[in-house]
Amino acid sequence: MPAGRRDSGFVDGNLAVNLPGGNSNTKDLIRLYADRGLTVDDMVILEGAHSVGEAKCVTTIVDDLNLANVTGSAEIIDNNFREMMLKKYCPKANESNWSEIPVPMIADKSGSGLGSGSAAWGVSFFNNIIKGKGVITSDVPFAVYPSTKDLVRQYANDSALWMKKFGETMVKLGKMDVLTGEQGEIRRHCSVQNAANMHA
Ligand code: HEM
Repeated sequence: MPAGRRDSGFVDGNLAVNLPGGNSNTKDLIRLYADRGLTVDDMVILEGAHSVGEAKCVTTIVDDLNLANVTGSAEIIDNNFREMMLKKYCPKANESNWSEIPVPMIADKSGSGLGSGSAAWGVSFFNNIIKGKGVITSDVPFAVYPSTKDLVRQYANDSALWMKKFGETMVKLGKMDVLTGEQGEIRRHCSVQNAANMHA
C-alpha cells in the first residue's frame, strides 16, 4: 500500500451501516460495488479476505432465514458442513446469546485442502465456497452465480494470481474517499491512530 494517506483519528461506528450485510444476494452486492466504481472481479478478489477472522452465528449459513433469503434454496450448501457448524459452534440450545457466538471464517480447515497459515490465505475461501462450505451466507452463492462462478474457480486454482490482484485491489479501495487538507491524520504506524500510539 502506498504510504502517506490520511486516515480518520477515531472510529465512527455509525458508518458501519454502509457496510454490506451477510444477508445480501449476489446481484445486489454487484450493484453496490458498481456504485463505488468496483467491478465484479474486484468484488470476488476482495471477498478472499473472508479467509481470516470470524463471523457471528447470525451472519452465517446456520441462520435458516438468511439461508432461504440469500440462496433461494439450501441446495448449494454442504449439509454435513452446516450440521457440523450447528453442533460445534452455534448450538441452538445456547439461545440467550446465540446470534453473537463467534465462528471462524474457515470453519472446516480440511475442506480447503491447503491446511492453515499463509498457504490457506484467500485460496481456502474460494475452495470452501465451491464445496458449499462457506461460512457467511452471502459468500456461498458466488460459487454458482453466472458472472462470479468462473472467477471463483480461477482464484481457487491460482493463489499467486489472487494474491497479486488482492494487493492491487486493496490499493484501489484505499484511494476511495480519501481525506484531504486538515482532515484526519497521517499515521506514524499504519495499524494505530497517532493518539493511541502516544499512550502506548
Ligand atoms: C460483498 C461484500 C461483503 C460482505 C457482504 C461482507 C460481510 C461480512 C460479514 C457478515 C462478516 C461477519 C461479521 C460478523 O458476523 O461479526 C464479515 C467479516 C469480515 N470481513 Fe467482510 N464482507 C464483505 C466485504 C469485505 C471486504 C471487501 C473485506 C476486506 C478486503 C472484508 C473483510 C472481512 C474480514 C477480515 C472479516 C472478519 C472480521 C473479524 O474477524 O472480526 N469483507 N464480512
